[in-house]
Amino acid sequence: MRIALINGSPKVSNSASGVLLTDLKSFLITSSKTEIKEINLHNTVVSKEALEDLKNTDVWIFACPLYVDGIPAHLLSCLVQLEETDWQDRQVQIYGVVNCGFYEGIQAEFALNILQNWCTKTGFTWGGGIGVGGGGALQQMPTMKNGHGPKAPVEKALGTMTDKIIQRETQKNNYVSIAFPRFLYKMAAQMGWRQEIKANGGKTKELGNQLE
Ligand SMILES: Cc1cc2nc3c(=O)[nH]c(=O)nc-3n(C[C@H](O)[C@H](O)[C@H](O)COP(=O)(O)O)c2cc1C
Repeated sequence: MRIALINGSPKVSNSASGVLLTDLKSFLITSSKTEIKEINLHNTVVSKEALEDLKNTDVWIFACPLYVDGIPAHLLSCLVQLEETDWQDRQVQIYGVVNCGFYEGIQAEFALNILQNWCTKTGFTWGGGIGVGGGGALQQMPTMKNGHGPKAPVEKALGTMTDKIIQRETQKNNYVSIAFPRFLYKMAAQMGWRQEIKANGGKTKELGNQLE
């Protein structure tokens, strides 16, 4: 089976989408004989190289962040370009992993619906997805064996999706969150924003300001 792991975060490095794809890749490699292409859609244009790789794969797995309850605008632009490509009636199966800053993975429901609607438009087959809450912490979380650690629920969902992908089956969207207390996650986020605004020459009281 030839699988494309597509990173749809605008971040070139250190993205939560990247972490999720790395975990998914390790599940796929250990579960079955798969040929994996890693494709980056970090900006508005799908490169010729990416297009070529996509033409040589049967399963596409998009991982992207949730932006304003939808998918990032640059990724939408890429999807429009992919619609304009002649796929010669190829049967491509699509899966999605959308991570979000909010704690609750259900926030990603509409973004997964966008990917599903795109499949309806293009004629590709929607295989289902995962909405991952607490995406802001994924970078810092270690992968631990035997279903332990704060990433365990996310890894479990990725493992279940791996089985579906290998069978080319469809799953219902699965919404998960990290195994880390919500109030601590929120506190860490507040601290992070304060540090970031100071590092960029601003003041913490400016955090709530509206853009003009
Ligand atoms: C422009 C922008 C819009 C965002 N909108 C949402 C949102 O609507 N809901 C949410 O939970 N997180 C939102 N986030 C947070 C991201 O989804 C979150 O930081 C995610 O973990 C980033 O994933 P990545 O590292 O794979 O890019 C937004 C972030 C940015 C920069």
